Amino acid sequence: MNLISIRDVDKNEIESILDLAEKMENKSTKDLEGKIIATLFFEPSTRTKLSFQSAAERLGMKVIDFIAETTSLKKGESFIDTIKVVEGYADIIAMRHPKEGSARLASQLSKIPVVNGGDGANQHPTQTLIDLYTIRKYKGKINGLNVGLIGDLKHARTVHSLVYALAMFGANIKLICPKGLELDSAHLEEIQGKFNITLEHTSEVDFKGLDVLYAVRIQKERFADPYEANSIAAKYQITMNNLEGVKDDFIILHPLPKINEIDPEIDDTKYAKYFEQAHFGVPVRMAVISHLMKRIET
Ligand code: NCD
Repeated sequence: MNLISIRDVDKNEIESILDLAEKMENKSTKDLEGKIIATLFFEPSTRTKLSFQSAAERLGMKVIDFIAETTSLKKGESFIDTIKVVEGYADIIAMRHPKEGSARLASQLSKIPVVNGGDGANQHPTQTLIDLYTIRKYKGKINGLNVGLIGDLKHARTVHSLVYALAMFGANIKLICPKGLELDSAHLEEIQGKFNITLEHTSEVDFKGLDVLYAVRIQKERFADPYEANSIAAKYQITMNNLEGVKDDFIILHPLPKINEIDPEIDDTKYAKYFEQAHFGVPVRMAVISHLMKRIET
């Protein structure tokens, strides 16, 4: 009844959530009227929090919100006590926290479902469902596509969830990143052990032959030395030159926020699909909330 890691859902379950999201696009229902979602964000968020709130409203739910700066956290209340209290105020929790494992801990403490909107550098499963939804929308499939992931693969939780899902769905994965920001070997070993996939690791920026590029920002807040983050970020920007020779139907995705990793000129090209991707956050999160709430009813 929780969604903490992308490993919590199998291919069939993901497909049924994506199918449900398809039906929810541009709809408002009264399906969950009378139910309440608590959005607990202990870390900054624009899209994840707002689209969870919008999704809940579109399902007829009410939203209670929590702003870390103005709550009893400031008085020193523990995370554990906060969860134990909030579970009595709502029917489902969507949360984000800077510590890895915090969402799992909340789900163990809580009697109501918990959805992880990002726990440190660990997981961001609902973003991955949005990413898969967007790929399926533009490409009609995921299996067999050539998907490149570029940027801070070491610290980006969106990548840690997405790479697993792409492997599960049989995409060919190309990992492109500056030295030192590679995906941890534990992730690679896990997906190579579980799925039969083609995987390439490179620091060379070449998008020829790719169907999809997924870019992520340098996750400055997760660096021990922010100056190092800035210097890498300055060297790694996708420009119009990089788009020469790409497939005609190539698409670029990004979970956003983007800082300077994509030249803004690219926003106006046919390749850029990241704003559409952000909009799909609403139907996909409507589907996730419905799916989890239905599961507790049955
Ligand atoms: C991401 C996150 O918080 O992990 N944002 C999002 O949810 N769309 C990406 C990021 O912060 O780089």
